[in-house]
Amino acid sequence: MAEIIDTAAEPDRALSRGVEVLSSGRPVAIPTETVYGLAADATRAEAVLSIYETKGRPRFNPLIAHVGDMAMAERHAVFDPISRRLAERFWPGPLTLVLPLRRDPGDGVAIDPLASAGLDTIGLRMPDGFARRLISAFGRPLAAPSANTSGRISPTMATHVAEDLGEKIALILDGGPCPVGVESTIVKVDGKTLTLLRPGGLDAAEIERVSGHALTRLETPGATILAPGMLASHYAPDALVRLDVTQVRPGEALIRFGSAPVPGEEQAAIVIELSRTGDLRTAAARLFSALKEADRQAHAGIAVTPIPGDGLGEAIRDRLMRAAAPRG
Ligand code: TXA
Ligand code: MG
Repeated sequence: MAEIIDTAAEPDRALSRGVEVLSSGRPVAIPTETVYGLAADATRAEAVLSIYETKGRPRFNPLIAHVGDMAMAERHAVFDPISRRLAERFWPGPLTLVLPLRRDPGDGVAIDPLASAGLDTIGLRMPDGFARRLISAFGRPLAAPSANTSGRISPTMATHVAEDLGEKIALILDGGPCPVGVESTIVKVDGKTLTLLRPGGLDAAEIERVSGHALTRLETPGATILAPGMLASHYAPDALVRLDVTQVRPGEALIRFGSAPVPGEEQAAIVIELSRTGDLRTAAARLFSALKEADRQAHAGIAVTPIPGDGLGEAIRDRLMRAAAPRG
């Protein structure tokens, strides 16, 4: 079983053990403001490989490289005025920028092509808090997807990681519940074209406001027909998920947003509140825990009441649609 260290109670030991395990080329589960990450040295192929092995990820998707400061970021990617403004405004925070990759970082060691999946771009993010301190102490970028078995719901608490990957990894750094609760917003910056690759914990409207550019969206928000390959078995609980439910069926686990009563809710196996006041930040922070709890309690699937698609609602609806998508 993985060693678990509380980053608030023992920050120095958490940092030194983290650096030690990362230096040995093994992955470490780390808290970030979005979700827990399975982090490894982004500059070493065998370390990046161990992430894929641990997650059971079938294919080599590009991973996000997490950086500790702007100097580290600029060693590995080319910033233009728009991407620099976004980084200055939103880092550290739940924003990933996909930028041109620098293969020759000058005085540093290059990001391994396995982390960038051989692309000529790199997804960079500067996380907040303990994760950032760990990267700075380690001195190199950390590749980190969410710390869950491939296709499962992302972990927002150390116990989620321990239950899923505890037998496979050496160290889990416990920073408490993740305050944002959904993964980072991913934006590709290509000249003046900004493409929203994934809605996430930073409201897309904020990015449009600060950059002065409208985001190109790959998918229509709220669309029901999305690329099936992208959706199948992503964020999948075991129970089937119904969205925008206005009538609960007996034995369903009900996930409710807002305070309005839902017809049939007295027959639900359990009622889980995302936010009674209809606050999207609270709902995002609780989303993945709610799905896991609903999955444990449901006798007849999971029912979710309507959630608006504006602001953080875009990311919440995106994750729920993936959870509800036909299984591959
Ligand atoms: O909040 C987060 O972003 C979390 C925490 C741990 O930081 N990480 C995360 O990583 O969600 P992951 O691996 O689950 O999602 C990374 C996604 C990839 O699936 C890919 O779609 C996109 O980022 N990505 C990364 N680099 C890219 C690139 N060069 N071009 C296009 N997409 C890229
Ligand atoms: Mg993931």
